[in-house]
Amino acid sequence: MKIAIMGYGTVGSGVAEVLKTNHERIVANSMQDELELAKILDLREFPGDEYEQLVTHDFNDILNDPEIRIVVECMGGLRPAYDFVKSLLLAGKHVVTSNKELVAEKGFELLTTAAEKNVNFLFEASVGGGIPVIRPISQCLAANEIEEVAGILNGTTNFILAKMIDDGLSFEEALALASSLGYAEANPAADIEGTDACRKICILASLCFGSHVYPQSVSTEGITKITLADVECAKAIGGVIKLIASAKRTDDGKISVSVAPSVVRNACLLSGVNDVFNAVLVRGNVLGDAVFYGRGAGKLPTASAVVADVIDCAKHDRRRKLLGWGAPVDGFVADANDAKYSYLIRLKASFEDANKAFGSIEKVTYPGQSADETAFISDPMSRKELDALLGQFDSASAVRITDY
Ligand code: HSE
Repeated sequence: MKIAIMGYGTVGSGVAEVLKTNHERIVANSMQDELELAKILDLREFPGDEYEQLVTHDFNDILNDPEIRIVVECMGGLRPAYDFVKSLLLAGKHVVTSNKELVAEKGFELLTTAAEKNVNFLFEASVGGGIPVIRPISQCLAANEIEEVAGILNGTTNFILAKMIDDGLSFEEALALASSLGYAEANPAADIEGTDACRKICILASLCFGSHVYPQSVSTEGITKITLADVECAKAIGGVIKLIASAKRTDDGKISVSVAPSVVRNACLLSGVNDVFNAVLVRGNVLGDAVFYGRGAGKLPTASAVVADVIDCAKHDRRRKLLGWGAPVDGFVADANDAKYSYLIRLKASFEDANKAFGSIEKVTYPGQSADETAFISDPMSRKELDALLGQFDSASAVRITDY
């Protein structure tokens, strides 16, 4: 059986490497006589690369080759990836992708097309890099009503926060290091502004709750405003700041979905997730909590998940894996600004003024705190209430506190 790769960057070249390194095991697991990498689509030339001869710049070389049954899409971005993937599915080829943006924006449509054509559209690598999470949620937790899914879904921001907390690196130094290690997106704004985590929680929310959730409906905040003072203040209350993406059922049957920097208490499993590692916590109504943990970004971990999907496609060449979700539903995603959290707040104000504005507050002190600042834990409140109160002060920062 022949395979093609579209996009020969970090992940695409990792896929070629994994296919070669574990060739015998992969062919045996795929129950095929052979799995042959036949074409690589990329705009660039790769002189001296061992697969140089396979490189094409023409998508039609893949689309029109009847021997290519499985196409791996690692181009990233929505266009032209979407057009290519749609054409491939319509042509009756299986597609495996690591492209979070593509699945978050077009997942329902592409899953529907795949179903109509009786082929597979698989995307294990789109969330959590190499961590098995899509398939376990879809299959192993299928007996549960999922109540909540939450986690650390972006390796770059987790790496940056860990380097700031543990090694005292500046934000810029930590980001440059993450980029050099191949963790960050081509445009790292997607990492640090929370967009990448947002796309991933949309995929998980769609899978867990059954209707497509679009990134536009998710309240998203990245880590660019987090300072070393916030980090120290969080330590003082026995926590660490993590970028947490979550989706949970609300009492009125909707789901509340958000991405936000959050203080996670040291007792929580998520607090120990460092470096580029990701963790996904799933709360099922009969299972309780399960946590999936591992390398969430990087060449070979991500390729590991991609190639597992390739194997699944090969094994199910004439059968379809039943994996996916239904159409988007208007009003299904609740306004995340209504969700209530306690906040860790730092204000340029006296304790008395802060207490007067916020009601009963729990004072916090931390090393290096400036004399004119009051830090405290607030009662649970909505984001709307919080913003109204913060507006009364000149200089303020607030980080959500989560409890898992
Ligand atoms: N930039 C992403 C991250 C890559 O840092 O998690 C994996 O999706």
